[in-house]
Amino acid sequence: MHNKKIVLALMALSFWSAQAQKRIQEVEVLLNKMTIEEKIGQLNLLTPGGGVATGEVVSKDVESKIKNGQVGGLFGVSGPEKVRIAQEIAVNNSRLGIPLLIGSDVIHGYKTTYPIPLGLSSSWDMELVKQAAQMAAKEATADGINWNFSPMVDIARDPRWGRISEGAGEDPYLGSKIAEAMVKGYQGDDLSATHTMLACVKHFALYGASEAGRDYHTVDMSKIKMFNQYLPPYEAAIRAGAASVMSSFNDVDGVPASGNSWLLTDLLRDRWGFGGFVVSDYTSVNEMIAHGLGDLQAVSALALKAGLDMDMVGEGFQTTLKKSLDQGKVTETDITNACRRVLEAKYLSGLFDDPYRYLDPQRAKKDILAEDNRALARKLATHSFVLLKNHNNILPLKKAGKIALVGPLADSRENMLGTWAPTGDFNLAVTILEGFKNVGAGAIIQFAKGANISDDTDFAKNVNALGERIVIDERSSETMLKEAVDLTNTSDVVVAVVGEASEMSGESSSRTDISIPESQKRLIRALVDTGKPVVLVLMSGRPLTISEELDMPVSILQVWHPGVEAGNAIADVVFGDYNPSGKLTATWPINVGQIPIYHSAKVTGRPAPESGEFQKFRSNYLDAPNTPLLPFGYGLSYTTFEYSDLRLSKKEIGRGESISATVTVKNTGDHTGEEVVQLYLRDMVRSITPPKRQLKGFQKIKLKKGERKEVTITLTPDDLKFYDAQLEFVSEPGEFKIFVGTDSNADLSESFILR
Ligand code: NOJ
Repeated sequence: MHNKKIVLALMALSFWSAQAQKRIQEVEVLLNKMTIEEKIGQLNLLTPGGGVATGEVVSKDVESKIKNGQVGGLFGVSGPEKVRIAQEIAVNNSRLGIPLLIGSDVIHGYKTTYPIPLGLSSSWDMELVKQAAQMAAKEATADGINWNFSPMVDIARDPRWGRISEGAGEDPYLGSKIAEAMVKGYQGDDLSATHTMLACVKHFALYGASEAGRDYHTVDMSKIKMFNQYLPPYEAAIRAGAASVMSSFNDVDGVPASGNSWLLTDLLRDRWGFGGFVVSDYTSVNEMIAHGLGDLQAVSALALKAGLDMDMVGEGFQTTLKKSLDQGKVTETDITNACRRVLEAKYLSGLFDDPYRYLDPQRAKKDILAEDNRALARKLATHSFVLLKNHNNILPLKKAGKIALVGPLADSRENMLGTWAPTGDFNLAVTILEGFKNVGAGAIIQFAKGANISDDTDFAKNVNALGERIVIDERSSETMLKEAVDLTNTSDVVVAVVGEASEMSGESSSRTDISIPESQKRLIRALVDTGKPVVLVLMSGRPLTISEELDMPVSILQVWHPGVEAGNAIADVVFGDYNPSGKLTATWPINVGQIPIYHSAKVTGRPAPESGEFQKFRSNYLDAPNTPLLPFGYGLSYTTFEYSDLRLSKKEIGRGESISATVTVKNTGDHTGEEVVQLYLRDMVRSITPPKRQLKGFQKIKLKKGERKEVTITLTPDDLKFYDAQLEFVSEPGEFKIFVGTDSNADLSESFILR
């Protein structure tokens, strides 16, 4: 048996190396035929417009550029017919007939939009995350896409930053697992298969750490922090085989990422062994001019030399690299190396075998928005919701009686998909009102808007820059409010769908005030004043500051932006067809003054008292506690879980040994439910100040009412390691403490010694 495995492994290896050999040879043959202009042409990624442009520039004369061999790939073009036209121009009308990469931003589903990534991460379910990515790949490739600008794996600890919605939250361990699951979901194990696409890990690097949470802002961070806290998810995605990387808009150690050779070459290629290609973000090469690094020729040469292979939209490579070559500022080898990486990606995609392999119109009809896909989107949404509070256990609601469904997001189709869903169509989304009627038939469901998302017309104008998401009603606030209150007074319960419009988070959507807008706060207060049971269904693309609402006698279900099946999924959970199991993947602060606030912060030399009381000359605030409103990992269920009997497999281990923690979890409530069992680690003594605790393992389990299970989580030697002052990945002997429980405040603990 053992021998058979080895023989199979060797056969696979020799098959792989024969494939690799063939790839290398064919790409070299092609490179030998190419002029320098044609090589530079492959480094150029254009977007013809017509689709969604995500910057200020769109490309011109795309057709003639493709014919001239000046284009390596396109994005913003989709559909088998349209992509075929573009591909035919490249194959039939350019001298060497090199096919195009066809990229797209498939961030949370292609046409079957599922929850925003921050929501999806809250499921803590890696199998589901992978299935989501597989479904996205199946749909996108059916529409001619072969390259996806996802996953975004930027660690984000500042909820003012709008793009926190697009990632997996604050934690490098969870972020790494999600990065891996997404890459595997998109790419499968054969990139040339017709249902897989190249992944693109972004935004390399540290984009989520922009100062003050303002998008595109500068980043400044120590290497120790980078290596221990921010880089792991990028590395995990690369280890999982991601075929491409996108550089970020920000600077890293003073040099913009797109021109940073430490980042793109020393770290990415030399240290991590990345063999794929690097694309810039949208005009990020040109933006180095504004960063203050020189003119277009200088910054383009800088980017190429740093290890950037493809220039998105900016055309700086196209217009200046030849001149830089003639002037000796770049070499032919620099250009050939970049071109080779782009060609290899095309080869891996199978485009040289058949440039039209992703262009079967029958498949598009069958695979896109298929019933199964919508069913999966609904499941993903239900699993992403986080129950923040269940006052008097009012949830789940009965499918009976009179329900007042109110709030500006209760009947708003345009806000259901969430940000960064350019390939989706919000007209296909199920509103909450529709979902309640579908699932809650038996109850009388009546709707009143109650308030605008915001009454602030200047704010609404900014949010609505790409389309109307905040619709300011013609009626006065008083009229709307009265209608909702009157309806509530004649109902048994009120469900208010409140929070953020979809474009209140996402790219270029930072906020300095992350509370629920005042117009909606007023509505919530008035509903509470009726004395009726109040359920808040809270939508947002980020953690919000909701101290006031959390203090009220209300139940709160956080639903992010749930995607195309929004209404059905929310109704499934509100009416108890699914028991919520999501857990927060980013800490919710009390106020913006606490930001950045995250569970793995350092203890400091003057830790605040455990009691939470203010103490002079300690690390605390005069006017707020250090603790957040809601901790990382937090989320309730309609049932309750009890943890007991934590034990470790050993009291002492040597280097290179693993250790397991086992805990008993019992469902002590009245419903079947799922729980994310979380394990945190504290390294008590080491040469670099350790975080208070760090997530190092989790398991999602399902327990019937009264059922009990033993859960074992194993820590490998790598889980005890960290990057030291020399940036070596090491573990140091001494005491470690393990905490296991339902969130990052887990208090069952045990210690062990690493010899
Ligand atoms: C800019 C965004 O930062 C990036 O995430 C996206 O992939 C590109 N635009 C392309 O649309």
